[in-house]
Amino acid sequence: MTDLPLYFERCRAEFPGLQRQHHGRAAVFFDGPAGSQTPQRVIDAVAHYLAHTNANTHGLFTTSRESDEIITEAHRAVADFLGADDPGCIVFGPNMTTLTLALSRAIGRTWRPGDEVLVTRSDHDANVTPWVLAARDVGAVVHHINFRRQDCTLDLDDFHRKLSRRTRLVAVGAASNATGTVHPVRTICEAAHAAGADVFVDAVHYAPHLLIDVQAMGCDYLACSAYKFFGPHVGVLWGERERLESLPVHKLRPAAEELPDRWMTGTQNHEGIAGTLAAVDYLANLGRRIDPAATSRREAIRAAFAAIEQYERQLLRRLLDGLTELPQITVYGITDPTRFAERVPTVCFTHARFTPQELAQQLAAEGIFVWHGNYYALPLTEVLGLEPHGAVRVGLLHYNTAEEVDRLLATLRAL
Ligand SMILES: Cc1ncc(COP(=O)(O)O)c(C=O)c1O
Repeated sequence: MTDLPLYFERCRAEFPGLQRQHHGRAAVFFDGPAGSQTPQRVIDAVAHYLAHTNANTHGLFTTSRESDEIITEAHRAVADFLGADDPGCIVFGPNMTTLTLALSRAIGRTWRPGDEVLVTRSDHDANVTPWVLAARDVGAVVHHINFRRQDCTLDLDDFHRKLSRRTRLVAVGAASNATGTVHPVRTICEAAHAAGADVFVDAVHYAPHLLIDVQAMGCDYLACSAYKFFGPHVGVLWGERERLESLPVHKLRPAAEELPDRWMTGTQNHEGIAGTLAAVDYLANLGRRIDPAATSRREAIRAAFAAIEQYERQLLRRLLDGLTELPQITVYGITDPTRFAERVPTVCFTHARFTPQELAQQLAAEGIFVWHGNYYALPLTEVLGLEPHGAVRVGLLHYNTAEEVDRLLATLRAL
């Protein structure tokens, strides 16, 4: 781990999308929070599935058996990715939103009028509206946990005030897809469990940056999306076995009652699941190169994230040092390097003279791809008074470089 920048520079070669040119210069992909680029092995796995093992599940013939093997291995790989010990508790689906809506509908059927649900004002709406709708259907009450405007961290006092014996579920994001703030999930789980409530964690934004460990987090459910961690457009849901087995999920009559099938409605995106397996293996392979002593896939993934975390912090430092020197720019969220453990390298800011859309347009013209708006973290941008324009979001991933950060800063300085 001596020369991380060089190390990750070499990683870039595995991502064909990063070779894209814009008017003769390399394009800069700072749009990772909306979807990362994919390494060649993911692209190959999707193509290989379709070319050689394309079949429906549980047949007696070769392609179906091979297809089943790939899907079974994908469940194992994602269990390793999440630190879960039971691959049967890994559910694949179209995306996190659809899986969360299915889960919220099922959990909501166990609530009674007067039960309470806690959601946060700093989460993506996919971890808010599904719970609000489920609560509305049964007459349960929803409370919204505030965040501190000065650093965009969750207001734990407000959480403790709103948590009660009536709380049935706390829905919290592991990391904000707008400000990058990492939420204290373990603390929240401990308090929620002591009050008799379950915890659902949206780890979509956390997944490409930090090692997920459902056991260490202590949550009851967790969802993420492979297309944010270098895979294809597939959603992932994990839940405690007894909960997934007993919840009254809406499913078709001939579909199996066993896990994970009772949650995986209809025919799945098999090629996407094959690609998801390859995305996890990309990370494990990265980890094995960093730490050849890593024995299991989980250990290799752990090694990969240790290096990713360290490298991303270097890039984040460079980006924030540059941004905070520009008087026209206001950054929302933690900027103090001594507190980088409380955030991932996703930075959201506004400019005194340009709207986020104008800024994103000017950057796009320079081949620098960033998002603008609210990225569905609408309660957060509302509280920060950023609506209707939102803010610009720069998302760094381990395939980004210091030169790219410098190019962004130079472009902003020249405006
Ligand atoms: C934090 C967060 N949660 C949930 C979602 C929704 O994920 P999906 O597109 O898989 O439904 C996103 C997507 O951007 C996100 O960033």
